[in-house]
Amino acid sequence: MENNSGAKFSSNFGFIMAAVGSAVGLGNIWGFPYKMGSTGGFVFIVIYLILMVTVGFAVMLGEFAIGRSTGRAPVGAYSSLPKKWTFLGFMGVAAGILILSFYAVIGGWVMKYMVAFFQEMIGMGGFGDASSADYFVGFITSNVEPIFWVGLFMILTALIVMAGIDKGIERFSKFMMPALFVIILVIIVRSLTLEGAFKGVEFMFSPDFSVVEELGWFNIASTALAQMFFSLSLGMGAMITYGSYLDKKENLEKNAIIVPVLDTMVALLAGLAVMPAVFALGFEPTQGPGLMFIVLRDVFLGMPAGTIIGFVFFVLVFFAAITSAISLLEVAASYLIDSKKMERKKAVLIMLVVIFVLGNIPIALSQGLLSNIRIPCPIGKVVDYGSFQGMLTVDLLDFFDWMGEYVFMTLGSCLMSIYIGWIWGPENVIKEVESNGNTFKLKGYWTFCIKWLAPPITFILFLSASGILGLFGIA
Ligand code: PHE
Repeated sequence: MENNSGAKFSSNFGFIMAAVGSAVGLGNIWGFPYKMGSTGGFVFIVIYLILMVTVGFAVMLGEFAIGRSTGRAPVGAYSSLPKKWTFLGFMGVAAGILILSFYAVIGGWVMKYMVAFFQEMIGMGGFGDASSADYFVGFITSNVEPIFWVGLFMILTALIVMAGIDKGIERFSKFMMPALFVIILVIIVRSLTLEGAFKGVEFMFSPDFSVVEELGWFNIASTALAQMFFSLSLGMGAMITYGSYLDKKENLEKNAIIVPVLDTMVALLAGLAVMPAVFALGFEPTQGPGLMFIVLRDVFLGMPAGTIIGFVFFVLVFFAAITSAISLLEVAASYLIDSKKMERKKAVLIMLVVIFVLGNIPIALSQGLLSNIRIPCPIGKVVDYGSFQGMLTVDLLDFFDWMGEYVFMTLGSCLMSIYIGWIWGPENVIKEVESNGNTFKLKGYWTFCIKWLAPPITFILFLSASGILGLFGIA
């Protein structure tokens, strides 16, 4: 059975924009700046780039090839190849559910900011008098509003996935992605012209290795690796799904280069939009998930026409987030459609309810009502109360993020690279890339990366990110 009744993208540009739509999202605009901010800036960026041109490129091309050659969603794809690693498809489905559980919560925060800027714009004073940080904390710790917004975000996502994604998503992304690019450039100009902004640029681009002493190479590299997989939507089958929609005549190699390049550009530009302002306005780069919301609000409210630009910015971030959320829900729902032969609408509805009740609601409350629920986790903070006293723990939001990103996507990419490099075999990928007379220029380099670089690098960093190395006192 062909995935989604054999629907195809109408052009390669449309495919690139949809794949970029999945890749570019909160990971780039919200995640990249704050993760870079808490791991020293420059060192993180360099490691990120090295991992991207080796491991990221290799896995991306492998996913496209699996998708296009089988024409199926992840679970179906792995089960229809000669050596069945169907469990890897299931890991992808689990990752999609885990990630969407917290991703939509942040998507809801973005919608709230979008509306607040709109109210500011029309003179209704959306933000009131509270300081940036107070406003943000007040909102995320309340008991009703975050649930309302995550619910709305999920319903919109589900409606688009129910309608089938090919035409909608393609038409949508073709316009939204370029627009996002332009508005980020406007913000960068503003951010860079603030007094004291240069410190932020230095933080990103001038070598300072003191952070390595503090955090260690393993920590920084595993954060960079998980962020890279997350940002490129790799290791859980989203790109298999999109590859399955791509026409045989298109060049997979070219696409596996263009998508990561565009994704990385947006991440770096988002860094350049946020980081100089962080320093100029006297915020801490290490403050974590609230960084974008808190810093950019002050940037916008302090600039001419700022409420309009702020509104447009959050609209575009919202679109970037929803094009990613669509691909997450698509992976989860396509399992029920493809393997359980369920009707599309019913499959999406089931996933929507499961994710909303078990994931979205508890996570939306995890900053306020449920903030006392702490879970032991190697990347957490030490708590000084309750039964976990003295242990590294995280709240529910960070826990789902860690499970999805550090465990499932990193381990998923590791197993996927072993599967492609050693089980299914690089020659099958090469054949797929070279179908229709396309040439595969980086054939030798790609084969080397997928066989010899990706498996060991991802395995070691998975051990570090999941805390297993830490148990042995190594990292
Ligand atoms: N890549 C998306 C982002 O950066 C998140 C995502 C992860 C989407 C995995 C699909 C699959 O926001």
